[in-house]
Parts: sequence; C-alpha cells; structure tokens
Amino acid sequence: MFARSATRALASQSRQFSSSAARQTKVAVLGAGGGIGQPLSLLLKTNPLVTSLNLYDIRGAPGVAADVSHIDTASEVVTGYPADKLDQALEGVEVVVIPAGVPRKPGMTRDDLFNTNASIVRDLAAAVARVSPQAHVLVISNPVNSTVPIVSAVFEKAGVYDPARIFGITSLDVVRAARFLGQVTGNDPANTRVTVIGGHSGATIVPLLSQSPYGKSLTGEVYAALVHRIQFGGDEVVKAKEGAGSATLSMAYAGAHFTDKLLRGLAGEKGVVTPTFVRSPLYADQGIDFFSTNVELGRNGVEKIHPIGPISAEEEKLLAACLPDLKKNIEKGKNFVQ
Ligand code: NAI
Repeated sequence: MFARSATRALASQSRQFSSSAARQTKVAVLGAGGGIGQPLSLLLKTNPLVTSLNLYDIRGAPGVAADVSHIDTASEVVTGYPADKLDQALEGVEVVVIPAGVPRKPGMTRDDLFNTNASIVRDLAAAVARVSPQAHVLVISNPVNSTVPIVSAVFEKAGVYDPARIFGITSLDVVRAARFLGQVTGNDPANTRVTVIGGHSGATIVPLLSQSPYGKSLTGEVYAALVHRIQFGGDEVVKAKEGAGSATLSMAYAGAHFTDKLLRGLAGEKGVVTPTFVRSPLYADQGIDFFSTNVELGRNGVEKIHPIGPISAEEEKLLAACLPDLKKNIEKGKNFVQ
C-alpha cells in the first residue's frame, strides 16, 4: 500500500517537474468570436501543447474566453480581448491564428471576399508585425491565395519578414480529400490521406490522388467527380447553410490539427509533414512565389519544402489550370499592400 502511494507521489512529482520544464506556448486567435473562431478556440483549449490562449475579436471575445476557460484542461490562462486591446492580445505570443473576416454566401467565390477581408487581414498583420514580429502566423481568412501574400508583404514592409513563419491554412482541403476518397472507396479516412497542392480555391486546389494507394486506380467519371468534390466541397456547406456562412466546424477541426502539427514541430518533434500554402521556390520561375505542397515543420516553422513528386497526366492538367489563377490571386494580394 505504502509502496503504491509512494510510487504515485513520485510519478506526480515527476509530472510536475516535466510540466514545469515543458515549453510555454502562448497562442492568439484573432476573430475568436466567429463561426470558426469559437470552435477553434475550444479545440485549442484541449491541446496540451497550448499553455496560454489569447482570444481577440472586435465582438464577443471576452464571452468566448470566459466560456472556454472553464474547460478542465491544463492550459493555465485563457483571456478575452475586446476591439481596443489588440496589442495586448498579441504580447509574447508564439503562434497567431487568424480566422477574422467575412465568410461566403451562396453564389460567391472566395475572391469575392477580397474587398472586405484584405484590409482586415492587412491591419491585423501590421499589429502582429509590430507587437510580436517573431510569431508564427496561420492565415485562415479567405481568399487564402491572396491573404497570405498580403501578410507576407506587410511583414516585409515592416522589415520583419521570415517566410518560414507565415502559413496559409489549406488543411480543410486535405481533410475533405481524405473523407471523400474514403467514402468513394469504402475505407476509413485514416487510411485514405491525400496530398493536396496548389492553392485554396476552386481550380487552384489540386489533389494528388495518383500518390494514394486508394486513389491511384480511380478513373473516368468517378475520378472526375471526386476531384470536383474536393475542389468545390466548400460550396456544399455554403449552400446548405443558406446564407448563414461557410464551413466553420470542419474548418475549426482542420485548423486545430494544423496548429497542433506546428506546435509539435516547434517543440522539436521530427518528421511532422503536412501541406500548407507558403512562400515556395517550386514555381517561382513562373512568377508564382507562394504554393502549397507538403512542408516539414520544425523548430523554426518551415524546415523543408517537399517537391510535388511524380504526378499523373490528369494531375498535370489540373496543375496547368491551377497556376494562372494562383498567379492572379497572389498578384492581387501583393498589389493591395503596395
Ligand atoms: P464569421 O463571420 O462567423 O466570423 C468572423 C469573425 O471575425 C467575427 O467574429 C468578426 O467579428 C471577426 N472580425 C471581423 N473583423 C475583425 C477584425 N478586424 N479583427 C478581429 N476580428 C474581426 O466568419 P467565419 O465563418 O468564422 O469565417 C472566417 C473566415 O474564414 C472567412 O474569411 C472565411 O472565408 C474563412 N474560411 C477559411 C477556410 C479555409 O479553409 N482557409 C474555410 C472556411 C472559411
């Protein structure tokens, strides 16, 4: 009996030591009161790698923070910051996730959001560059193909740009691809992972089904329908929500997964690889200097950008359709900041 309680005491002591020796990671969510921001904040509160959570929004963040703070997980501090407290929300943060901005309504493309969201993202990025220039910035706000170049240009202007620390979140395309391929082939999505490259909107989304053991045998109409569903899956949600917004719950799930991967990389875990839209040399010779491919995440953010690997003739065509659109979206973002 004594031996067992002594062992328990020792185990608890060593847990205390290990937790006090563990990294302290402060994460901020900008747009935390929104459809994505709320469930994303909830999921981040359940991540043991997040020790402190700063929730900011122009509306409702203190309420979300009070609610989330009651969840019985280890992260010590959850603080909500109202509209006039952006700088305080950013102090000392290592990771900033940005889902601030307006979502699509039926019939809209992601590019239709540009006029509203470009300035929201530009202004938030300027605050991050000023208060926490060393932070890793995860951009969810659409159009991602343009908002990531905007954040990058703002950081560049401020003289604090490190391309290894700015990410466009394309994880929802990866989540959808696994789920839809799983459905089509009758498999658990855990086994039907698909690398998705390019950008994050319509034809710029290029799923590499030929690289999946489950996807490579698909042909004809089944293949074409699956590619279309991966590229335009977001429209299903926009339509079903009848004007009330776009994907929020699946996006929060995908965003929390990406954040977890980044935090694992920052903590020194090796071999953390996932697609994300980053500054990339792969198509820079064609004037496309942002691109999503598998990226290895590590202590400094982007450690290594993987090549796209062997692709099929169909995927060559998808890529050929992706590149001109992507180029336009990137230029639009860059021009906005100049
Ligand atoms: P929402 O309208 O429900 O929430 C947006 C939140 O941003 C609101 O709470 C609003 O008050 C806040 N906000 C607006 N301006 C702000 C500012 N200057 N500072 C801080 N907060 C501000 O929209 P939802 O559904 O959460 O979508 C957010 C964004 O995420 C949209 O641009 C949407 O298109 C995008 N999105 C991206 C996806 C991706 O895969 N990357 C998937 C789905 C949506």
